Amino acid sequence: MNSIISSKSLNLSGEIKVPGDKSISHRALIIGSTVNGKIKIRNLLESEDVLATANALKKLDVKITKLSNDEWEIFGNGIGSLEGSNPLLNMGNSGTGARLLMGLVAGSDVEATFTGDRSLSTRPMERITTPLIKTGAKIICNSNNTLPINIRGSKIPLPILYHSPIASAQVKSSILLAGLSSLGKTTVIEPSLSRDHTERLLKHLGAEVITTQLENSSWKIVLNGMPQLNPLNINIPSDPSSAAFPIVASIITPNSDVLVKNVCINELRIGLYKTLIEMGADISFTNQREVDGEIIADINAKSSKLFGITVPKSRAPSMIDEYPILAIAAIRANGDTIMEGIEELRYKETDRIKAMVDGLSSMEIKTKNTKDSLTINGKGEMSPISGDIEIDSRLDHRIAMSFLCLGLITEKPVIVRDTDTINSSFPIFFDQMNKVGAKLKYLRS
Ligand code: S3P
Repeated sequence: MNSIISSKSLNLSGEIKVPGDKSISHRALIIGSTVNGKIKIRNLLESEDVLATANALKKLDVKITKLSNDEWEIFGNGIGSLEGSNPLLNMGNSGTGARLLMGLVAGSDVEATFTGDRSLSTRPMERITTPLIKTGAKIICNSNNTLPINIRGSKIPLPILYHSPIASAQVKSSILLAGLSSLGKTTVIEPSLSRDHTERLLKHLGAEVITTQLENSSWKIVLNGMPQLNPLNINIPSDPSSAAFPIVASIITPNSDVLVKNVCINELRIGLYKTLIEMGADISFTNQREVDGEIIADINAKSSKLFGITVPKSRAPSMIDEYPILAIAAIRANGDTIMEGIEELRYKETDRIKAMVDGLSSMEIKTKNTKDSLTINGKGEMSPISGDIEIDSRLDHRIAMSFLCLGLITEKPVIVRDTDTINSSFPIFFDQMNKVGAKLKYLRS
């Protein structure tokens, strides 16, 4: 079990490489397996989460090979073509891999059993088993609706209309992927629009997906089943959720100026950046362009003076993974930063509200929380922050990276235990952060 010690850093400066987007990488592999023919995927995130999805697909008889650094080839067998005799699919730490692949299996004439690590095995799956059963899939699981789960897919799933109680891209995508092989229209209605990478990639490859806002302001996504998916290559942009760590680190560390290139700036992913700009952060976007259905840009961030704001509930789906690192930025703000409507954070790799409150309170940073909100009482730009603590990552990569970014500005170091979990989303975090001036060191046990 590795630990990392993060110490006060003078300044961060230069260009930092952030790997491919995690959400799009899972989807490129999963949706890539349904095209007719061979495609190349470039800048695939080679993290434990995504490799777990690739390995699971291989066990379902999909041919996937790595060509060179970051470049992969996938031989799609067409929609509904997964095969295998009840393979055991270990999805590791990945809720996205597990939930999306369960959708694809539900719409194929195949049986598979899904497992995961300690963290994934406690996460709620009822949110996807309920709609997938409606498509005709047979699902066997324990009474808590947690992994392990056995799914026997149906060859021709029913095209369903599902009102999702939560805005979740994992729920929406799981249903749409099952609906790929139905003869008809699969419809998902979600209370607000969650990230739309599944819809964008399916459209890029030739499917008909129509998204409309309803009168009650919820969103309706309709997929026409059995599309002809063209074997087009997929170039994956850098992950805005990973870029968030060096960007916030640069904002809170004095005399800093960091550049991250080719970041996905999909409107449904950049809530953190909008929030930071409202808080006074010096962030700029340049070189904006469209690549394979996604908008990308280069992002530059400099040390900034921040003030606390209220982040509305409506912004939560577009920054759901970024609240832990926002909480770190909020420590340096003048006044309170109030994050509303974030109950979903309690069901991530760990209860992220609790993890932040526990860690920050042990450093005498004042916080308040309710079931669905978190308030950080900012200490302003100059007040010293003690540090001198050890944080358990709780098998959550974003908790680990958030506290390591905090250690760059504390008086005494911050140690994060069990940091291997960072490999699930940002395997080059340690090297890249140190390259621009961070003082991170491994403490090996
Ligand atoms: C993801 C969706 C989000 C996010 C997760 C990735 C995706 O989860 O937290 O890290 O790729 O679909 P929810 O859809 O459950 O909000």
